[in-house]
Amino acid sequence: MQAFLTIAVRAARKAGDYIVREADKIRSVQSKSSNDFVTNVDEAAEKLIIDTIAQAYPDHSFLGEESGHSGSGEYRWIIDPIDGTTNYIRKVPHWCISIACTYRGRSEVAVIYDPIREELFTAVKGRGAQLNDKRIRVSQTNGLEHSLLATGFPFRHPQKLAEYNRIFNQLFPHCADMRRGGSAALDLAYVAAGRFDGFWEFGLNEWDIAAGTLLVTEAGGIVSDFSGNPNYQNSNSLLAANPKAFKSMLKLIN
Ligand code: IPD
Ligand code: CA
Ligand code: CA
Ligand code: CA
Repeated sequence: MQAFLTIAVRAARKAGDYIVREADKIRSVQSKSSNDFVTNVDEAAEKLIIDTIAQAYPDHSFLGEESGHSGSGEYRWIIDPIDGTTNYIRKVPHWCISIACTYRGRSEVAVIYDPIREELFTAVKGRGAQLNDKRIRVSQTNGLEHSLLATGFPFRHPQKLAEYNRIFNQLFPHCADMRRGGSAALDLAYVAAGRFDGFWEFGLNEWDIAAGTLLVTEAGGIVSDFSGNPNYQNSNSLLAANPKAFKSMLKLIN
């Protein structure tokens, strides 16, 4: 797995350099569906990542946000070339590259790279999580009173707004404050690093969370859907937090 991590880091750094270089030269912005934008840079960065990994592992398969499925190997790389495309387009310097290698549906290796802050979050299943090679752990915040939570608004799921508001109204009075940064992968990496105590969002895709969820669990956190079911992959909701905050959040949500 260490060799997989080395390749994933190489691919993420290459893509990071490229995406930063292109920030003032975006040639096309297209809308895939309501409020889901893709630029020529997202597409080229995804190709760069897949080409780099496929060169080392030609029999692996891929799921990229912009290019979909390719190949059929049991090792499957899940790639979000820019998580936070709206931020990237609007020059808000908060986005990242997310790469995970999965085996039979489970994440084994995770890389989340923020090239602007030069922060590289990595994890290998069973071996803990790191930020720039230093071990990270979820926060120890006891209960929610002093906790800083992160969320994503249901901006692509208007039918979820009422349910979102209900949960927000349950959680907000009990926590210290709430953040909406615009990159679910960074939200998860920050939970792993103990910067946020918990994170919750509706309607995320595999590429948004495949790396971040492994970071959280390897840092000692818990991940589930809003019912507490660890099979969050099949659900439309995601909750990730340190074990104490997780318990309190789950109770309030339900
Ligand atoms: C989005 C970001 C955002 C989250 C959305 C994601 P994208 O990813 O992670 O924070 O709220 O649900 O789709 O489209 O910028 O890769
Ligand atoms: Ca997108
Ligand atoms: Ca994403
Ligand atoms: Ca993306």
